[in-house]
Amino acid sequence: MLHPTTPTPTVSGFPPAASVPPPAVLLRDIAMVYDSEAEPFQALKAIDLTISAGTVQLVMGPAGAGKTTLLLIVAGLLTPTTGQVELLGQSLHQMSRSQLAQFRLQHVGIVFQDNNLLHTLTALENVEVALNLKGIHGHSCHRQARRLLESVGLGDKLNHLPRQLSGGQMQRVGVARALAGKPQLIIADEPTAALDSTNGRLVTDLLCNLAREEGCTVLIATHDERIMSFSDRIVYLEDGMLRV
Ligand SMILES: Nc1ncnc2c1ncn2[C@@H]1O[C@H](COP(=O)(O)OP(=O)(O)OP(=O)(O)O)[C@@H](O)[C@H]1O
Ligand SMILES: [Mg+2]
Repeated sequence: MLHPTTPTPTVSGFPPAASVPPPAVLLRDIAMVYDSEAEPFQALKAIDLTISAGTVQLVMGPAGAGKTTLLLIVAGLLTPTTGQVELLGQSLHQMSRSQLAQFRLQHVGIVFQDNNLLHTLTALENVEVALNLKGIHGHSCHRQARRLLESVGLGDKLNHLPRQLSGGQMQRVGVARALAGKPQLIIADEPTAALDSTNGRLVTDLLCNLAREEGCTVLIATHDERIMSFSDRIVYLEDGMLRV
């Protein structure tokens, strides 16, 4: 568990002034109504959530509860109908589309449930593309992509295409890609859903160790109770509402 340490009192009896980092994620009174052909559907209602920097936050809940909707909003990929989203102290509402895309590229890594790899590219190239998008090219890009894949245990699969990898290995490439460029916030939607327990454990370890070692914040939506023991905090979504 990561907890902020209590500042040591100084001689004067007061703790030294320290700048408190903003929460990694701040959601205020979020609602999401999808316009569908039949009738509008309210997927999220009155969501308030603060995620401290450097923690692992789980969102659990049954199918259709609104987990993916919530993660898409935090990732800035979906604009909520009402409410405010702040990431790393910055309000997403005040950003233009291109500023938001740039912000996401710089600060947010996303692991999709179905890994979303480019199927005609090798594992190495999939990670390189993510680095290219962040402005990293050439030798440095190649070196970083290789190191990232080695860190997820795929140093011997660099030149494999996704179809030549197992589900767990593909998901690990997805994790390596999400880590490209060291984003401060990792968002993972059911990252272990398609994995057996060994691979599920590996992917979970990777994500959670990252928060511990790199101080980055990890937000995971999951049905997977095996992840619970790794997290700092769990919230439950039910019918679009949070049960903290
Ligand atoms: N684009 C959309 N248009 C209309 N309704 C949608 C849309 N996307 C999601 N919904 C509805 O919003 C609700 C929440 O969906 P969401 O995908 O966020 O749930 P979830 O908790 O991630 O579910 P699961 O565990 O199955 O992944 C569901 O009832 C879904 O049908
Ligand atoms: Mg979902």
